[in-house]
Amino acid sequence: MIISVPKEIKNNENRVALTPAGVKELVKRGHEVHVQQTAGEGSGFSDDLYVQAGAIMEPTIEAAYAAGEMIMKVKEPIEPEYGLIKEDQLVFTYFHFASSEPLTNAMIKSKSICLAYETVEKADRSLPLLIPMSEVAGRMSIQEGAKYLEKPLKGRGILLGGVPGVRPAKVLILGGGIVGTNAAKMAAGLGADVTIMDVNLGRLRYLDDIMAANVNTMMSNEYNIREMIKTHDLIVGAVLIPGAKAPKLVTRDMLKDMREGTVLVDVAVDQGGCIETCEPTTHENPTFIIDDVVHYCVANMPGAVPYTSTLALTNATLPYAIELANKGWEIACRDNKELELGLNIIKGEVVYKSVADAFDLPYTNVDKFLN
Ligand SMILES: NC(=O)c1ccc[n+]([C@@H]2O[C@H](COP(=O)([O-])OP(=O)(O)OC[C@H]3O[C@@H](n4cnc5c(N)ncnc54)[C@H](O)[C@@H]3O)[C@@H](O)[C@H]2O)c1
Repeated sequence: MIISVPKEIKNNENRVALTPAGVKELVKRGHEVHVQQTAGEGSGFSDDLYVQAGAIMEPTIEAAYAAGEMIMKVKEPIEPEYGLIKEDQLVFTYFHFASSEPLTNAMIKSKSICLAYETVEKADRSLPLLIPMSEVAGRMSIQEGAKYLEKPLKGRGILLGGVPGVRPAKVLILGGGIVGTNAAKMAAGLGADVTIMDVNLGRLRYLDDIMAANVNTMMSNEYNIREMIKTHDLIVGAVLIPGAKAPKLVTRDMLKDMREGTVLVDVAVDQGGCIETCEPTTHENPTFIIDDVVHYCVANMPGAVPYTSTLALTNATLPYAIELANKGWEIACRDNKELELGLNIIKGEVVYKSVADAFDLPYTNVDKFLN
């Protein structure tokens, strides 16, 4: 198969869909890989590394899109890319269709095959192509939180791990899923006094078993949250209810009970946020202050560490890309239910129910294309 990797053009997106190592794996299996010049630059991969791995470099985004039977990307296509996607071309990337009607309509019009990273799903209902970004964001939440606790950045001026003779900072993590667990590991490693809250008692039991001694678990409810926010220095929002907006666990009126310089990092901001006063921010201007409480609410946290994020993402996407390239999308999706669930739009027809429902579009059962 001919695979093509255009350079991402969305504002501040430095990730790339294939690393030189990924190119080599595909070329080794007899596939042809085209990469747009400088596509890997933002993640630290030069054109030379791609050429050495066997890639054919394309000078423009138009040439990159025109070359491939399968387009591999990171972010959803944006308007200037809509017209570059061709009939019957397979596009493997994050789409998040339900949040964009223009994108959904453009991909229907293109008659391409849209296989979305975010809906590839394992039998245990986990989302293997979302997990790596949650791992990155969870770990980063503590790095950023620790930074904004510094006095010059308007924080409480407390060191996360303390020092001998001085107590460490207190970190409260709302939600003990992938983000919350990774945040807890980082905070615990730095020596902070950590509490994870979740509504799933089974999850709390598991975390209690595996976490370090400086991590405690607590049932998440309004009473407990109101008590805990009074004494905690860094509060991380990491709640997810699949398919729904995050519940507002920290409300506006609670800010007055927090100490001056408390830092809130709402990682769940991309799903509406679980802290009422959080509004999405960017890496250029990541924080704002309300009632002397620092709010960090960057919606695409992994974007700040493209080297790590690219490697983490491509570790997860490459096995699926190889399967798609080896078999073609129809046989690969028939053989592998995880990939089949990634199919959102095929040749102008919406085959993912919640995308059809989001915009009142006709829904076609995917079996029509796979049998
Ligand atoms: N900002 C970013 O850059 C970024 C990056 C990656 C992920 N995220 C977001 O982070 C959020 C968490 O993702 P995840 O992968 O950890 O999800 P996850 O499903 O692994 O974990 C969510 C956890 O929240 C818990 N939960 C549900 N209701 C709760 C409540 N009322 N109180 C406490 N816990 C509750 C669940 O039981 C679950 O354990 C999502 O909204 C995700 O989109 C943001």
